[in-house]
Amino acid sequence: MSFKGSLFSGPERVVFGRGCAGDLGGYVEQLGGKRPMVVTDPVVAATPAFGAITRSLRAQKLDYVLYTDSDVNPSDVQIDRGLEVYRSERCDVIVGVGGGSNLDTAKSIGIVASNPGSIRDYFVSSYVTDPYAIKNKKRNPPTIVLPTTSGTGAEMCGWTVVTNTDENYKGFCGGWTAMPHLALLDADLTVSMPPGLTASTGFDALMHAIEAYYHRYAMAQTDMFALSAMGRIVRHLPRAVANGTDMEAREQMLLGAMEAGLAMNTGCALVHAMGLPLTTEFGLPHGVTLAIMAGPVLRYNADAAPEKLRAIAQALAPLGEAARTGHAADAVQGFARALGLPTYLDKAKHDPARIPDMAKAAEANDNTRGNPRIPDAAGFEALYRAAYAQA
Ligand SMILES: [Fe+2]
Repeated sequence: MSFKGSLFSGPERVVFGRGCAGDLGGYVEQLGGKRPMVVTDPVVAATPAFGAITRSLRAQKLDYVLYTDSDVNPSDVQIDRGLEVYRSERCDVIVGVGGGSNLDTAKSIGIVASNPGSIRDYFVSSYVTDPYAIKNKKRNPPTIVLPTTSGTGAEMCGWTVVTNTDENYKGFCGGWTAMPHLALLDADLTVSMPPGLTASTGFDALMHAIEAYYHRYAMAQTDMFALSAMGRIVRHLPRAVANGTDMEAREQMLLGAMEAGLAMNTGCALVHAMGLPLTTEFGLPHGVTLAIMAGPVLRYNADAAPEKLRAIAQALAPLGEAARTGHAADAVQGFARALGLPTYLDKAKHDPARIPDMAKAAEANDNTRGNPRIPDAAGFEALYRAAYAQA
């Protein structure tokens, strides 16, 4: 069945403010939980801020289960293992704490907690063009997410990225039935992020806003969040990178990532599609791959969506007069460089012989379908070559 209209969704509730993570226990009870499963990774579990989360659960006498088998690339195996723990421990609420990967692990465990089989049964062919083509018909168990980075937007959506170990690819699962019930946005949880991670995750949020704004399926419900996020992020990300304890900047970045995450109801586009193979081939962090591909792709998109690119440049006005009057691509590249992120590939480290395979992977990536203009095979290769141009 096909549906008319543009789909916009988000968590049932979003709470924003320093210290709100300490109310977690009360929220678990509100959702009817007695045995929460806390999904995170060992690094986050060791941070001082994580103590507020476990203290809050203990204060409500909630006997929680800690599941720390999550990492940067959640796999189907980890998720199915998490399901076994959820079932054997008779959990009734899922709490995800961490960056996008941990939140994706939490949501993915929820998918198979409510629906039969393995997470491998729930990969979707296109989350962009057919968001209702999902097999996980039953709603996830009550799920609370607490982001510890400001960037991925995983706290604002029901989609998850999972590595399929049978066929060795990263695909999308989830959809509206996997939407978190509650997001707790507490800047105190983001304070221990080092400058490099703050820069790369914050730049990821900026690119979510930009790609949502020029997206083929951009909608009125997402445009306002996208434009607001761009201004908020360029004003506050440099401060958060320079001084991680600047709490105003940390709070504004959580808000910017929230707005960008809601804008991403559209899906992402070509910068993301071309960035993902750079992670697979060279192990580059997600935000760094976007900083590298932003220049070539935004220049390529300028002809297809000139008004959108002009509006993006306007939204980046806090970067100075050059951004307002110039090209969005130059402004975004300059911003990335100022944050200390690389904006070019290096022939010595990133073998150009991999370009044809990366071009094929980018062409097949679902995000490509959202771009205002879609290159042919030679076009993909030319964009990768342009990323080396001034190395
Ligand atoms: Fe992203």
